[in-house]
Amino acid sequence: MPKTDAAAVLKTVPLFAGLARNELNDVVDLARDELYSPGQDIVTEGQAGGPFFTITEGRADVIVHGNKVRELGPGSSFGEMALFEGSPRSATIRANTHVKALAITSWNFLALLQDNWDLTKKILAELSRRCAVDAVVEGLRRGEAKGTKKNS
Ligand code: CMP
Repeated sequence: MPKTDAAAVLKTVPLFAGLARNELNDVVDLARDELYSPGQDIVTEGQAGGPFFTITEGRADVIVHGNKVRELGPGSSFGEMALFEGSPRSATIRANTHVKALAITSWNFLALLQDNWDLTKKILAELSRRCAVDAVVEGLRRGEAKGTKKNS
């Protein structure tokens, strides 16, 4: 993918939305295009970490313990948990359609963050927003589960 197109895609990714043009270009320089076929696992739950991904075309399922928990589409990013925690992959991401993704290796991404505190702060801000949203969704889900139990 041409660098200008990659920058335009990454600009729509919440994780990178706050970045200045030069910061975005630094991220684009590290990204490579990858292609996946329908049914192919992009990352596998339990395996050692690897790149951080942003989907540019197509759709993929997030599967935890064999259950689909979410569907991802263009602009969705994933793979940050293994990157930051150094933990095994927390979910399988399986292509639903042909998927194109921009991948950034963990060592390149971590080196970029280490060298650029402003960029790191913006990414941390977005990750904390994402955690807050997930906490609200989880709270609602638990509330609904309780409600279902009470009413049944
Ligand atoms: P990581 O653990 O590196 O690899 C699997 C990725 O799936 C994970 O990072 C997150 O980016 C993503 N992921 C894990 N659980 C969920 C979830 N419940 N909803 C959406 N994405 C998730």
